[in-house]
Amino acid sequence: MTHKNFLTLLDLSPNTLRGLITRGIELKAIRKAGSLHETLKNKVLAMVFEKSSTRTRMSFEAGMAQLGGTAIFLSPRDTQLGRGEPIEDSARVLSRMADVIMIRTFEHEKIERFTACSEVPVINALTDLYHPCQLLADMQTWFEHRGDMQGKTVAWIGDGNNMCHSYINAARQYGFTLNIACPEGYDPDTKVLQAAAASAVIMRDPAEAADNADLVVTDVWASMGQEEEQLLREKAFARYQIDSNIMNAAAGDALFMHCLPAHRGEEVTADVIDGSKSVVWDEAENRMHAQKALLEYLLL
Ligand code: CP
Ligand code: NVA
Repeated sequence: MTHKNFLTLLDLSPNTLRGLITRGIELKAIRKAGSLHETLKNKVLAMVFEKSSTRTRMSFEAGMAQLGGTAIFLSPRDTQLGRGEPIEDSARVLSRMADVIMIRTFEHEKIERFTACSEVPVINALTDLYHPCQLLADMQTWFEHRGDMQGKTVAWIGDGNNMCHSYINAARQYGFTLNIACPEGYDPDTKVLQAAAASAVIMRDPAEAADNADLVVTDVWASMGQEEEQLLREKAFARYQIDSNIMNAAAGDALFMHCLPAHRGEEVTADVIDGSKSVVWDEAENRMHAQKALLEYLLL
């Protein structure tokens, strides 16, 4: 396997990740100027979605169109993947026709098996364990608003889920400290956390985690696939809502981020997500610019 992949943030060096921020900002400026920029002309992206998506699908599809290429949406409902064709065979076939493939699925192990049989780069568009594309957008957004994140502090308040794991990896790769506030029983994966022991720490008190933080981040309490745990989780996470008190505990110029979709009144209050410290719409837009930079990096 000689091609590059992007399954986690650890697949790229810190320098490459910083380069993607710069390139994402450049590509955003090119797009805003209305200039034609077709570096991926005739290239094809296959997009395999085993879970729902608004931002990821739209950002990859629009991004490929803007770069002169094509994106093809594939769902298990109308492909043989949904009828039991082995993931390895699907990888062999898709990678003979597409130039790059993105997958959103459940078990992280599934994307690793797919990648092992793919002849072209594979992008993780979310698994139960990680969501690295979202971090490319978050880091670009932070950089645009506040400059370099080296030495800064981020408060992750909520579930120790796929987004939390990608924030743990980001703390290592971009050089910030991550304070994680989650209820007992909802901690991030031990191995992921231990590997980042110098950069990430678990706290139980959300106000302590937010204390003087430069960025406050959260995500839904029940992720895709955990819908039946919604009520149980609402109880467990009741103390972990990001409200104006939490934002006031953070640094005076702290930003608020959320990968979206958000549940106002659950993990975040409406006044915070719709307030002046929130950069969630820039964050969502940057999915497209950051992933265009990623596609260029993987294909050119
Ligand atoms: N943040 C994110 O990945 O959104 P979608 O689920 O809408 O793609
Ligand atoms: N943690 C969420 C992220 C959605 C973009 C989920 O996996 O459903």
